[in-house]
Amino acid sequence: MLKLESVKVSYGAIEAVKGVSLEVRKGEVVTIIGANGAGKSTLLKSIVGLEPVKDGKVYIDGKDCTYVAPHKRVGLGVAMSPEGRGVFADQTVRENLMLGAYSRKSDPRAIEEAIEREFKRFPRLKERQHQLSGTLSGGEQQMLAIARALMSEPRLLLLDEPSLGLAPLIIKDIFEAIRQLRHSGLTILLVEQMAKQALGVADRAYVLETGLITLEGSGKQLLNDPKVKAAYLGAH
Ligand SMILES: Nc1ncnc2c1ncn2[C@@H]1O[C@H](COP(=O)(O)OP(=O)(O)O)[C@@H](O)[C@H]1O
Ligand SMILES: [Mg+2]
Repeated sequence: MLKLESVKVSYGAIEAVKGVSLEVRKGEVVTIIGANGAGKSTLLKSIVGLEPVKDGKVYIDGKDCTYVAPHKRVGLGVAMSPEGRGVFADQTVRENLMLGAYSRKSDPRAIEEAIEREFKRFPRLKERQHQLSGTLSGGEQQMLAIARALMSEPRLLLLDEPSLGLAPLIIKDIFEAIRQLRHSGLTILLVEQMAKQALGVADRAYVLETGLITLEGSGKQLLNDPKVKAAYLGAH
């Protein structure tokens, strides 16, 4: 469903992603773990087209999308919940969800159905649909960010650090939501610093270090890898 070949992304003279190759197959949950500054967000942005690829290739469903505009990639079935959630604080929950459906704005009924579907998935969002999003808790905002990404009915969902800044109990809820999405058959590429939880939910995983993949394997393999344990799993 997704294949990257030697992808490089730079910010001026800084090369943030230095030649990454990876793939995500249909129905898989794949995680990329890595420290702050490793290039995880940059990599996800290059997949949705928000950062230009300097070298290498991005294939979506076998189609070369390296230079395809972001909105067209949404049309191809890719959506992202960005790091820091990116919800519009001064708009209501419902309005934020509508924004996720901009690619379908000619079909109000489909949008309404999509909203109802997300309300079913995240009942707290339904209760708070007319509330300004800035008044939601961090966990609720994260659910809103995921629900908004799902409004375009993607086949591949990219999640950038959904656990960031959340309390442990809320992180559990977020990972439970990810498990349910996985159960529904959605293909997911999850970027996380919470390595233990991410590896626990993932079929396969990659370790990204300063712009390069240094390890890959099944989630279970990496959970038991001594290097991963030492660098990412700490004392847990
Ligand atoms: N907009 C930007 N301009 C310049 N440098 C950036 C920008 N965004 C990220 N970087 C740099 O690129 C590298 C990778 O960042 P990022 O992709 O955000 O890493 P991660 O998501 O793994 O924390 C870091 O060195 C960061 O400072
Ligand atoms: Mg990041």
